[in-house]
Amino acid sequence: MSIRDRKREHIEISLTQNVNFRSTTTWLEKVLLEYSALPEIDLDDVCLETDFLGKKLKAPLMVSGMVGGIEEAKQINRDIAKACESLGIAFGVGSQRAMLENPQLKHTYFVRDVAPNIFVAGNLGVTQLKDYSLEQIEYALESIGADALAIHINAAQESIQPEGTPRFKGCLKKIDEVSKKLSKPVYVKEVGHGVSFRVAQELAKTNIKAIDVQGAGGTSWTAIEFIRNKSAFGETFWDFGIPTASSVAECRKAFKGIIIASGGIRSGLDAVKSFVLGANMVAIAKPVLEAQAKGGHKEVENYLSKIIHEIKVALFLIGAKSPKEAVGRGRLQP
Ligand SMILES: Cc1cc2nc3c(=O)[nH]c(=O)nc-3n(C[C@H](O)[C@H](O)[C@H](O)COP(=O)(O)O)c2cc1C
Repeated sequence: MSIRDRKREHIEISLTQNVNFRSTTTWLEKVLLEYSALPEIDLDDVCLETDFLGKKLKAPLMVSGMVGGIEEAKQINRDIAKACESLGIAFGVGSQRAMLENPQLKHTYFVRDVAPNIFVAGNLGVTQLKDYSLEQIEYALESIGADALAIHINAAQESIQPEGTPRFKGCLKKIDEVSKKLSKPVYVKEVGHGVSFRVAQELAKTNIKAIDVQGAGGTSWTAIEFIRNKSAFGETFWDFGIPTASSVAECRKAFKGIIIASGGIRSGLDAVKSFVLGANMVAIAKPVLEAQAKGGHKEVENYLSKIIHEIKVALFLIGAKSPKEAVGRGRLQP
């Protein structure tokens, strides 16, 4: 199956079937925020501005990379990016492999005409990095005006995907090389199965600037690939992975750079619980795709504005004036 048909199936399955984790949760429900009935600040004192790899975000929020490489992706990316531009938050495109194979598909990723100012992340899979020269990767970023490269690390998905390439030998070395030589900052993201302490420790030896944990509890990529696969193989791994809350705490211990909490972030409360555990910002994927399908850029903007407002209120309710001040203002449920 071509990359384009596969991308189409991913979007269609994500929008029409239940692809959430079934029994594994994010574990964020185990984090209790330390409510302050007397926060000694005003709601307006809460400042959400966050620095992210050279740009200022108006809120510590990003829409994770999802689509590109097919005609339908053009409108999806533009609608989402337009909403991000009006809210001043970060945005990522889906894997740019398709446009490296066929440069005529560049326009399906390009959003700079509707989103000239925001942080935009390019995206490539770690197993494909070795197929491309540094110049090709630079080209992928430059041609869409990206501010950084997100490398997705996705062993669970590649093992279940019928056309997957579960060949991860040498990937860490490649991440190290690209992170040191690329002109733009590089960060690493999972796709919904989490990053462990051990992996974060290895990544900390490279020059990556952030880890976007994309933990378990939200969208399950083993589920999506199992549904595409239509065979019995794969269902066993539907709930496989490291819950988001655990992944944030593990990465925080091993890595000094920026930690993005993601995978099943569905409210401002989830976001603030992640800040309590040490995350610097959060990212959301599938609900944003659903909002775009429902009502274009306006619906995406409404959905994301609600999340941003919830983050502000939740920080106020724990007496924190910023995401940084949230650290430690919570406890784990026994
Ligand atoms: C339709 C769809 C396509 C995706 N494509 C990509 C991709 O190309 N590259 C990538 O790094 N992640 C991709 N993802 C994964 C998301 O960025 C995110 O890691 C995952 O969906 C978990 O977040 P969520 O629980 O908020 O959905 C995709 C997700 C969806 C729903």
